[in-house]
Amino acid sequence: MRKKVSIIGAGRVGSTACQLLAYRDVCDIVIWNRTEGTAKGIALDLIESAPLEGFDTNITGTSNFDDINGSEIVVITAGMPRKEGMSRDDLLNTNAEIVKGICLQVKNQAPESKVIVLTNPLDEMVHLAKRITGFPRERVVGMAGILDSARFRAFIAKELGVSVESVSAMVLGGHGDFMVPLPANSTVNGTPITELMPKEKIDQLMQRTRDGGAEIIKLEKESSAFYAPASSLLRMITAVLEDKKEVLPCSAFLNGEYNISGIFMGVPVVLGSNGMERIIELKLSDEEAAALKTSADKVRELTSHIDAML
Ligand code: 2OP
Repeated sequence: MRKKVSIIGAGRVGSTACQLLAYRDVCDIVIWNRTEGTAKGIALDLIESAPLEGFDTNITGTSNFDDINGSEIVVITAGMPRKEGMSRDDLLNTNAEIVKGICLQVKNQAPESKVIVLTNPLDEMVHLAKRITGFPRERVVGMAGILDSARFRAFIAKELGVSVESVSAMVLGGHGDFMVPLPANSTVNGTPITELMPKEKIDQLMQRTRDGGAEIIKLEKESSAFYAPASSLLRMITAVLEDKKEVLPCSAFLNGEYNISGIFMGVPVVLGSNGMERIIELKLSDEEAAALKTSADKVRELTSHIDAML
């Protein structure tokens, strides 16, 4: 029997992640949405594409949480997206209510699942998911660092005129204005970009990365990014499903790593069948460590609002 992956929220991120995952043909998928017709319609449309794309993935569209029963992975994308002029943090109260309701269902219906959260404000919503489900930190992670690092990679590749596949990049910290791109750990075929570009250019690309989500909202007005977030989710889902032990930057609960405790934040982790199996501690410069601490302080401040709600 194939493993079950449930995607909660059939908005643009959820439905695109569902499509990408269906194409992989490695699991069954449940796509849940508050409005049943939306979920069922997306599922049916994808099922009708199966003969053309060549996959046998079973896809169930539903608004009934009973259907997520026994899921190996539950992906939470539901929530209000950002609109122009809003920060991710502006969504805190509205999305906390939504994520809380979902996590109560996840706890009952899929008590052994690994939970991947995408809803913003990301680090705080993952914290909420861990508090509500009571799952160990290995089974609750957030998607952000992969997206932020992919944006940084894309900008570096464009700037240097090389393939994105030759570029690796690392962005740590909270998924917000204080995220911390690490140029010394971002390389082209092993050479740090600090040796390939002037500092001013690197600073520009780092800022564009921090503003990556807002840049898209500014262009699209009513919608936030969804292709790159969905691709980032797919990377996490397959790392867990296929036990790849892939090292990816994800929002993980810190227990003293990087001298930070009690909050979720973006750090490199090993993702495998047990979920977040290990946190990797990179050697940071004093400047990078200070930037990470500032980012952690911001996340901690907002996280305290979540704790106060419970
Ligand atoms: C982004 O950075 C939506 O937070 C997401 O695009």
